[in-house]
Amino acid sequence: MNTTEPNDAPGLPAREAALNLLTAALSGRAGLDEGLTHPGLAALAPRDRAFARALAMATLRRLGPIDAALQAKVQKPPPDRVVQILRLGVAQIFVLGTPAHAAVATSVDLAAAQAGTRPLKGLVNAVLRGLTREPPDLDRPELLAPPWLYARWQAAFGPDAARAIAAVIAAEPATDLSLKDPADAADLAGPLEAEVLPGGSLRTALRGDVSTWPGFAEGRWWVQDAAAAIPARLLAAQAGETVLDLCAAPGGKTMQLAAAGAAVTALDKSAGRLKRVAENLARVGLSAQIVAADAASWPAQGQFEAVLLDAPCSATGTFRRQPDVLWAAKPGDIASLAALQSRLLDAAARRVKPGGRLVYCVCSLEPEEGEGQVAAFLARNPGFALDPATPGEGGAPEASLRADGTLRILPHHQPGGIDGFYVARLRRS
Ligand SMILES: C[S@@+](CC[C@H](N)C(=O)[O-])C[C@H]1O[C@@H](n2cnc3c(N)ncnc32)[C@H](O)[C@@H]1O
Repeated sequence: MNTTEPNDAPGLPAREAALNLLTAALSGRAGLDEGLTHPGLAALAPRDRAFARALAMATLRRLGPIDAALQAKVQKPPPDRVVQILRLGVAQIFVLGTPAHAAVATSVDLAAAQAGTRPLKGLVNAVLRGLTREPPDLDRPELLAPPWLYARWQAAFGPDAARAIAAVIAAEPATDLSLKDPADAADLAGPLEAEVLPGGSLRTALRGDVSTWPGFAEGRWWVQDAAAAIPARLLAAQAGETVLDLCAAPGGKTMQLAAAGAAVTALDKSAGRLKRVAENLARVGLSAQIVAADAASWPAQGQFEAVLLDAPCSATGTFRRQPDVLWAAKPGDIASLAALQSRLLDAAARRVKPGGRLVYCVCSLEPEEGEGQVAAFLARNPGFALDPATPGEGGAPEASLRADGTLRILPHHQPGGIDGFYVARLRRS
């Protein structure tokens, strides 16, 4: 079969790059982040690179329904590489709207281009053609998340919320920005084509290279999801206060705290990721003391008026920008991360001065990493009590405020979506 696409359509290298990206994203190692640094992707023309990324992301956002559609057509599971080619083909036809004949032809070409998949190019052709005759429904929320995570969300938040959370997986998110100076919102909203969200984040309609957007070069904002900006607002750092940001890299929350005028110590155990904190601070003209250490065993003495712990977690709340996290996560990860979080929370508590505040947050939707973590912490640490958030505080969606004053921010709580987060503010007596 000959490719019948228009001449200017992305060619084989762009599709091969999409295939490599999808494979890396689902490999369970560094995932999509690692895939995006693949030299094959960097070597492409910008337009082809954008296509490869868009195709891999479209496939990941609907991986569950795509697989269900393929399973109905294929008796015996083909080798992995062929499965990836089929997934990309389905996404092209039914998500990106590529004309079916072109998507089928280029998928067959992609299979034919490699010795390992060449013998199965007929299968690729037959399966994709079969699906074009009976278009699958790729938007069923109950198929959009892995079944074990969907069942967890049903148990934790109820069936309606689970459906609403999962429905967000398919949607491409806008980019949210945090401002160095909140008074800049009105001035920047126009040029950035942005809506000002309740907490002061800007949600921009712009796409593409952020470094070309108005205000970037002057360091007036940084990219940060609207939900990720809420924990530092709840800490309400004051000018001159000493604040410890544990698990700080890449530094979104450090920048918020420094912008408020606090004397910030930004600690992270990854020296590589701390470089990004230093670069980010330098770009926006802010400063913090940067410390490379394990938060659980940092030997330095001293306590702080306020401590923020943005603990490492399963990150299931970040699926809007990293849909691969859902497919990489494993049930056992949650228990081991919860054990680490509990050690880090105790270590963070030891750094809080009497009368000081501690904000704990995770970008996870799993109760063991959020509600369960804080309940167990309070039972272990009678010197701490919850300091409830007030309605709408920090721009938190109304629906996210729980009876105890902690926040369970769910992806459907904001029109257009928002990352999932759990946030609790505690005070030392
Ligand atoms: C959720 S990210 C933090 C995001 C960051 N707060 C921000 O707003 O940009 C978690 C971070 O925890 C760090 N980390 C993991 N285990 C740690 C430990 N034991 N001590 C210190 N940092 C740790 C990781 O290197 C990672 O940068």
